[in-house]
Amino acid sequence: MFAYGKWMIVGLFAVAGCASAGDPPAAPPPSADQIVNQFQKNGGVFPGRRRNHAKGVCVSGYFDSSGAAARYSVAQVFAPGERTPVIGRLSIPGTNPYAWDDGTPIRGMALDFLQADGQQWRTAMNAVPFFPVATPQLNYEFLQAQQPVVATGEPDPEKLAAFFATHPKANAFRIWDRTTKPSTSYATVRYNSLDAFYLVDARGQRQAVRWSMAPEAAAEDRAAPTNDPDFLAGDLRARLAHAPLRWRLVVTLAAPGDAIDDASVAWPADRPQVDAGTLVILASQPQRIGVCRDISFDPLVLPRGIEPSADPLLQDRAATYAESLRRRLQDQRNDAPVPASASHP
Ligand code: HEM
Repeated sequence: MFAYGKWMIVGLFAVAGCASAGDPPAAPPPSADQIVNQFQKNGGVFPGRRRNHAKGVCVSGYFDSSGAAARYSVAQVFAPGERTPVIGRLSIPGTNPYAWDDGTPIRGMALDFLQADGQQWRTAMNAVPFFPVATPQLNYEFLQAQQPVVATGEPDPEKLAAFFATHPKANAFRIWDRTTKPSTSYATVRYNSLDAFYLVDARGQRQAVRWSMAPEAAAEDRAAPTNDPDFLAGDLRARLAHAPLRWRLVVTLAAPGDAIDDASVAWPADRPQVDAGTLVILASQPQRIGVCRDISFDPLVLPRGIEPSADPLLQDRAATYAESLRRRLQDQRNDAPVPASASHP
C-alpha cells in the first residue's frame, strides 16, 4: 500500500486516454524490482525494514471457527470448533518506520493462520474501502506520480493532479484518504482483503468472496494524539495488558456480475455475509524481535479450500512482497545496523 498523507494536492489536468488503433502497445507490467525501487525512491531506504508498511508491531493469538464457512470451504481453519494459532502484524503504510501514526488513516493487518494439517493461510488486509487502482501497471504509474522532486522533497503537484484527473477511482480514494480521521487504535478499525478469492467446498464448488476483520472494540470519538508518533503501539500494549482483543471474520459472498478481478470496485453493501469465527489477539511484540519480522504475508499462500481470483494485483503483490523480504534479509546479512526507536526497540 502507498505512503499517503498531508502532501496530496488536487488540480485538474485532464488527459484523455483509452487504447485505440495505432496506439503504442501497452507497457509490459512492471517487475517487482521496479516497483520496490519506486517505493524506495518515494520514501527512502531503511535497512532491514519492509519496503512498505515498514512501521508495525507483531501480534499473536488464535482463531476460533464458528463453523459457518465450512459449507463453502474445505479449509481446516473453517471446520466447526476448530481453533487455529495465528501470527500477525499490525502496521501503517510507507517505507519509513519512524513515520507518525497520525500521518495517514490507513492501518494494515497481516495474519498467518497455522492450520493443524500443516497448511497455512496468509492474508494482508487494509482498513480502506477499496484499492485506488485495478492493475499493477496503474499502481506503478501512481507510485511514480508520487515520487518527491528534489527541489521540494514533495511530489510534483501537477503530475499528481494529472493522474487524479485521468483516474477517477484513485481520485475517490484520495478524497477518502483526506476526509478520514486517523484512528486512535489498531483495535477499533475494520480491515478488508479488497482482492477477491474463491472458497472451494468438498464438491469443488467455488464461491467468490472478499473477507474483513470487523473489530469488537468500539471506535473512540477523539482525535489521534499529536504529541506521540507511536500512539498505536502504546494503545495496543495498554489494551492487551487489560484483555485480549477480538475481531469477527466476516466473509462477503459475491453476487453474479460483481467485480471479482478488480480491487478498486467495492461490492454493494447488501451482499450476503458469513460470520466465519473470531480472531483473538493475546499479545504484541516489538517487530525487531517478533516472530512476524521475517515473514512475508504473501496473499497467495493459501490452504486447500481457498483459491485466488484472477485479480492481477495478487500476483504483483506476491512478487513485490518476496522482493521486499529478499532485500531486508539481505540487509540483515550485510549486518546493516537497524537503528532502534520507541516503537521498534
Ligand atoms: C499491487 C499492489 C500492491 C503492492 C505493489 C504492494 C506492496 C507492498 C510491499 C512491498 C509490502 C512490504 C512486504 C514485506 O516486506 O513483507 C507490502 C506490505 C503490505 N501490504 Fe501491500 N501492496 C499492494 C497491494 C496491497 C493491497 C491490495 C493490500 C490490502 C488489501 C495491501 C496490504 C498490505 C499490508 C497489510 C502490508 C504489511 C504486511 C506485513 O505486515 O508484513 N497491499 N505491500
